[in-house]
Amino acid sequence: MKKYDELVRRALCAMKQAYSPYSGFSVGAALLSRSGKIYLGCNIENAAYSPSVCAERVALFKAVSEGEREFEAIAIVGGSSADAKDECPPCGVCRQVMREFCGDDFVILLGKKDGSYRRFTLFGLLPESFSPRQLEKEEAQK
Ligand code: THU
Repeated sequence: MKKYDELVRRALCAMKQAYSPYSGFSVGAALLSRSGKIYLGCNIENAAYSPSVCAERVALFKAVSEGEREFEAIAIVGGSSADAKDECPPCGVCRQVMREFCGDDFVILLGKKDGSYRRFTLFGLLPESFSPRQLEKEEAQK
């Protein structure tokens, strides 16, 4: 699909901005909101290690901080020396952060440097997840 090809291309561009001097592993993400806007993210590491943040969360938090709440898809690419020769699946924490704002049908594209990608859904990568639904009041669930 043309718009998903474009999303993977944008993720490859975002990967170039990665700040990853400690791992040497660069990641780029491109997030498509339901409003049609694309938000980019890269991983940003820190000398103290634990404050490091993944590319997917940078893209999501940028979008949410701009008022977006609904999303259609995210493309993710990554690899050592920014080569993206293999797929870069999202870490568990990022899957959970996606779950906060995205439904089961949210599309996750795992791309490579040649622009090819495999398409997954959030349900496929995070089944039986804990979500905002679990915190809804009992009355509201009826
Ligand atoms: N990383 C991401 O940006 N996204 C992921 O889903 C997996 C890992 C980053 C974190 C760290 O900067 C580097 O890749 C190596 O783990």
